[in-house]
Parts: sequence; C-alpha cells; structure tokens
Amino acid sequence: MTFDRSIKIAPSILSADFANFGAEIRAIEAQGADWVHVDVMDGHFVPNLTFGPPAVKAFRPHVKTVMDVHLMIAPVDPYIQAYADAGADILTAHVEAGPHIHRTLQAIRGAGMKAGVALNPGTPAEAVAHVLDLTDLICVMTVNPGFGGQKFIDMSAKIRALRAMIGDRPIHIEIDGGVDPRTAPSVVAAGADVLVAGSAVFKGGSVDAPEVYGTNIRAIRQAAQTSLAA
Ligand code: DX5
Ligand code: ZN
Repeated sequence: MTFDRSIKIAPSILSADFANFGAEIRAIEAQGADWVHVDVMDGHFVPNLTFGPPAVKAFRPHVKTVMDVHLMIAPVDPYIQAYADAGADILTAHVEAGPHIHRTLQAIRGAGMKAGVALNPGTPAEAVAHVLDLTDLICVMTVNPGFGGQKFIDMSAKIRALRAMIGDRPIHIEIDGGVDPRTAPSVVAAGADVLVAGSAVFKGGSVDAPEVYGTNIRAIRQAAQTSLAA
C-alpha cells in the first residue's frame, strides 16, 4: 500500500447481503470501491455482533483492493494475530476499547498490518496525540458505532484538529457513519481522505443490479471532490 491523500471510498459490507459476501465484495470493487471496510462487532463494546476471524478470512480472496478491518471489540489484543492471519491489511482498534492503545497499535504493526485508531463521537482528538507515530489511520466516528444507517453527527472541528495535529505524517483520516453525498463535502473540507459508506453505497442495488453501487459510489466521490476543489 502506497500512501496518498486522494479521496478513497470504502463501502462497509455491513450493508451487503449477508448470504452473498463474495459476490457483493466483487461487485463493489468492480463498481469503483477503493477499499473494502469490514465492521467487526462483539456484542460487548457495541450492542451488535458481526464477523469473527474465520468470516474475515473467507472474505480475503475476494478483496483485490485493501481490506480495512474496523474492530468494535474489547479486548482487542488477544485477537490481533487472528485478524492478521485472516488477511487484514489495516486493523483499526478503538481508543475507548481498553487502557493500552499504545501497546495495541504496536502489536498491530508488529503483526505486519497497518494500524488504525478509532475515536467515538464523545472522544476528543487529543486522545491520539501521543500515538501518532504508531498510527497509519485515524477513524473518526460520525455515529455511535454498532449499526449502519444511523444519522450523521458533525465532527468537523475534531477532523480539523486531527488534520493539524498530523502535519506531514502519512496518516489517513477516515470518516465512518452516515456518509452520503450530502455529508461527504464537509468532512473532506475538514481534512478527511477515506470515506466509509454502508447504506449510501448499497441502497437500491444488488449483485444483480451492481451498476447502482457504481452510481452511488460516484455520487459520493463527486460530492467529496467538489468540496476539495472549492
Ligand atoms: C458503524 C460502522 C459503520 C457503518 C457505516 O458502527 O462502523 O462502518 O456500517 O454505515 P452507514 O454508512 O450506513 O452509516
Ligand atoms: Zn466501520
């Protein structure tokens, strides 16, 4: 993975057909997805349950781009190697998931993956100030994690603060939750480069009508790029 700050659209397969992940992943990539975002939930850190390492491993051969795995689990550390073995390219842990985010990020890199750190809406930017040199991606949650299709929460001030804090470091700013063509411009203007979108990508489409995914992805990208040019 080479680093760049171009706009990347990362569809969350939380909004895909759960009986057909392989075909759904191939469809979104064929329709222009830059990364594939995989939401791992444990029914403890967040009130919902999704994928364990064997499921993520089964997705891997279908992902030709980047498999971006977002852990909404606590604890994180006992599972890092399992997600590395499952083939995650980026593994993101929440700063709220435990007292040792510094150790967690070290362990993620140590297992050969890019290390991401996620911030819930109520957590300030300063929570990552002392781990920037261990971090490849900061995920700014614009919903309280646990479910797709929730209402976007404006985190522009936090995104701007993180962008300033990052300086020249090669760290992505990813936005997760409620991203659509209407909300994308403000987060990109504030400094984000990776846009996760679940419902806004999958709505109206299917593996039998994949061109809808393409239309949805292009609509988000175009809205985002307009704001870059502005
Ligand atoms: C929320 C997840 C998100 C979610 C985004 O807990 O981390 O990735 O699936 O879904 P939308 O785009 O529908 O808000
Ligand atoms: Zn996510």
